[in-house]
Amino acid sequence: MRVCVVGTGHVGLVTCASLAAVGHEVVGVDSDEAKIEQLKSGDSPFFEPGLPELVEEGLRSQRLRFSTQIADGAPEAEIVFICVGTPPRESGEANLVAVENATREVMQHLSRAAVIVEKSTVPAGTSERIRRTLQRERPDLAPQVDVVSNPEFLREGKAVEDATNPDRILIGADGERAFVPMRELYKPWIDRGVPVFETNIATAELAKHACNAFLSTKISFVNALARLCERAGADVVAVADVMGADDRIGRQFLNAGLGYGGYCFPKDLLAFERLASRLGYEFGLLREVATINDDAVRAAVEKVKDALWNMEDKRIAVLGLAFKPDTDDIRLSPSLALARQLLDEGAHVVGYDPVAGLEAKGEIPDLEVVNTMWEACEGAHCVVIATDWQEFKDADLERLRSTMAYPVVVDGRNIYEPAEMNRLGFTYYPTGRPVVS
Ligand code: UDX
Repeated sequence: MRVCVVGTGHVGLVTCASLAAVGHEVVGVDSDEAKIEQLKSGDSPFFEPGLPELVEEGLRSQRLRFSTQIADGAPEAEIVFICVGTPPRESGEANLVAVENATREVMQHLSRAAVIVEKSTVPAGTSERIRRTLQRERPDLAPQVDVVSNPEFLREGKAVEDATNPDRILIGADGERAFVPMRELYKPWIDRGVPVFETNIATAELAKHACNAFLSTKISFVNALARLCERAGADVVAVADVMGADDRIGRQFLNAGLGYGGYCFPKDLLAFERLASRLGYEFGLLREVATINDDAVRAAVEKVKDALWNMEDKRIAVLGLAFKPDTDDIRLSPSLALARQLLDEGAHVVGYDPVAGLEAKGEIPDLEVVNTMWEACEGAHCVVIATDWQEFKDADLERLRSTMAYPVVVDGRNIYEPAEMNRLGFTYYPTGRPVVS
C-alpha cells in the first residue's frame, strides 16, 4: 500500500521503517530539513538498536523515501499516519497544534479517498477534532476520508522489536469502511497471529492512555512500597517477587528505583489526568502516582545526604543519565532530576552515560560529564546508580571500591547484590532494601 508518515520522531520513524520492511511504499515526511538529509543518507537521528539497519534496508529497496514536503507523500497515499509531537502545555494538557497543522496540510494535498491515522498519543476526542478539520479544509473530499486511531505501544530501546513483534494491534474506527485498509496494511502481522483489537475511536484513544497510566501506577506502587520496606526493614525486591508470582499481578514493572521518566509516561499520565478532569471525573489516583514518582528521586538524594553529611566539597558520580538503558533519550530523566538536586545541595556532580553524555551536558551545564565510568568514579565520595545500563551491572566492583574516595554506593536501580557489596566493604544504600554498612 502507499503510505505517508508525517513526523519522523521515534514513533514515526519506526512506523516508516517497519511498514517498508513488509513491502509497503512509504514516504516519511518531516519539516526538519537537517533530519531529513540525515535520514536520506542512511543515518539515524537518534539511538535506537536495529533501526539504522531497518531504515537502510528500506532505502535500498526504494520502498522507503524521505521528504520535507507533505506534497511528496500525501497526494497518492491510501493511508496517512500523523506521528507529530504532542508536547505538554503548562497545564499538563497535550498541545495538539502540530496534529491540527499536519492534518490541515495533509488534507490540502490529498487527491483521493484515504485514511488518516492518529498514531501520536492524543486525548480521547481528538479524532472528532480531526474530522471537523477535514470537513473545513476539503468539504469535497472529506466524505471519502476516514479517521482511525491506531496507537503504538513501542518502548524506546526496544522499538524495532516491538514494531516487528507487537503484543497487539489496536485499531479504532467509527465505521466498517475504515477497518478494511487498516487490515490490509497490517496483513503481514495479522497472518502471523498478532491479535488485533478493533474498537471505536474513543476506546482506542483511551486504551492507549490507560496502558501507560496503569504501568506508571505499577511503578509508583512499588516505589511507595520501597519507602515502607525501608522503614520496616523489609526487602522490596522479595516483596515484588512474591507479588509477581501471582499471575494476576505479574512481576514486570515492579522494579523499585528512581521512578519512571522519558517522553511518554510523565507526559501521558498528566494529559490523561487533565482529560479526565475536563470530562468531569477527578482521577486523583493519577496525581498521586506522579507525586510518588517525584518522591523517588528525593528519597535517593536523602540517602546521599545521609551517607555524606555535608554535600559541599563532595564529589558524587551519577552513573547513567538517559531515562533508561539502551537509549540516548534524557527527556524527563530521573537521573537528571537527581543530578540537579545534588547540584542544588552544593555537591560536585560528575555524570557518565554510555550514550547520553552530550545531551545531558547540554541540559545541565553545571554537570561535569566524562567519557568513562571510571573517570566519573575516580575520587568520588559517593556513586549513584541512576540508570540500569548493563555496563554498570558488569562493572568490576573491587576496582570500583579502590577507585572511590569513600566506598559509598546509592543504588537507584537495585542492580547489585547487597551480600556482595557487604563482602567488598561498601556502604551500600539500595532502594527499598536494608542498608549495608
Ligand atoms: C513506554 C511504554 O512501555 C510503551 O508501551 C509506550 O508506547 C511508551 O512508553 P518507554 O517510555 O520507552 O515506553 O519506557 P519503558 O521501558 O516503559 O520504561 C519507562 C520508565 O519506567 C523508565 O524510566 C524505566 O526506568 C521505568 N521503570 C520501568 C521503572 O522504574 N521500574 C520498572 O519496573 C519498569
